[in-house]
Amino acid sequence: MIELNNVRKKFGDLEVLKGVSITIQDHEIYGIIGQSGAGKSTLLRCINGLESYDGGEIRVNGETVSQKDPKKLRLLQKNMGMIFQNFNLLNRLDVYDNVALPMKFWGMKTKTPEAKEKIHSLLKLVGLEDKIHARPSELSGGQKQRVAIARALVLDPGILLCDEATSALDPAITREILTLLQKINDELGITIIVVTHQMEVVKQICQRVSFLKDGTVLAEGKPEELFIHPIKEVKAFLQEESGMLPERGVNIQLFFTDRSKDPVITMMARELNIDFSIVWGKLEDFRSNVYGSLVINIRDDDQEDVLAYLDRKHVAWEVLGE
Ligand SMILES: Nc1ncnc2c1ncn2[C@@H]1O[C@H](COP(=O)(O)OP(=O)(O)OP(=O)(O)O)[C@@H](O)[C@H]1O
Ligand SMILES: [Mg+2]
Repeated sequence: MIELNNVRKKFGDLEVLKGVSITIQDHEIYGIIGQSGAGKSTLLRCINGLESYDGGEIRVNGETVSQKDPKKLRLLQKNMGMIFQNFNLLNRLDVYDNVALPMKFWGMKTKTPEAKEKIHSLLKLVGLEDKIHARPSELSGGQKQRVAIARALVLDPGILLCDEATSALDPAITREILTLLQKINDELGITIIVVTHQMEVVKQICQRVSFLKDGTVLAEGKPEELFIHPIKEVKAFLQEESGMLPERGVNIQLFFTDRSKDPVITMMARELNIDFSIVWGKLEDFRSNVYGSLVINIRDDDQEDVLAYLDRKHVAWEVLGE
């Protein structure tokens, strides 16, 4: 378990983390999303002790992350693999030696039968067995990130930290890398923290997500909760506009969080004997569940009945433009 309790961090006068509290469970895929400069990378670097923090506490599996005890910190860091946007591979080394690098750093031999088996099995896991002697310059971006993932796993960490790991990749390759992270989470049971400004990443693999703005967590929850019915700041981040809505009547946004719900709105039209128009809508895929949101326009006179009906059917709603 990773526990952040009121974590504060300053660079000079600039307060970059203003009391962040998050708890991440074992085996979870947890997202941290927010605009550039929100403090996401700083938060990740504090978690793995690359950066110190000024207040609060970070605990990983019960141990406090602190620069005060370098030996303990190094052991904690051994348990946390990390991957980055720009892969950070060494071009003078081939794929095998890049993956083996953390072993070297820990004074382990990298060509023993055990080491070879470990590295081969990781390259198999990431689908790069045939590139074992290639140099990074001979690989595509997606392949480079696969090498970096294998390298991050070579010391058998319990936690994998990903800082914008897919930001330099095109959408198809991004999906492949995310599928690989999902597989690593499933098969190895590794806890994964994903820092990203890409909503797609969070939607595809995260079980929970925090929205960070100016060093503060403004919202936390399941991705579908955050994105389908967003708070003002998340909406601004997503730059979502429900377009031009009719000025006459009342516009009500409905939020469907379960595909198998009754056909509520057609039933409503029949049961209340009213007419309405659908003026905006979207469906979103979250870890293979579909969630949706719809804006309907009704007559002013029908508002009270409609809202009461939606409440009875447990459909979340918001009257727009109030
Ligand atoms: N080493 C540093 N020294 C001084 N200021 C820093 C340092 N690292 C980060 N900052 C500042 O802290 C703030 C948060 O930076 P951080 O890199 O954590 O943001 P981020 O959310 O990861 O952004 P991005 O999405 O662009 O990667 C920024 O204002 C940045 O300029
Ligand atoms: Mg960053």
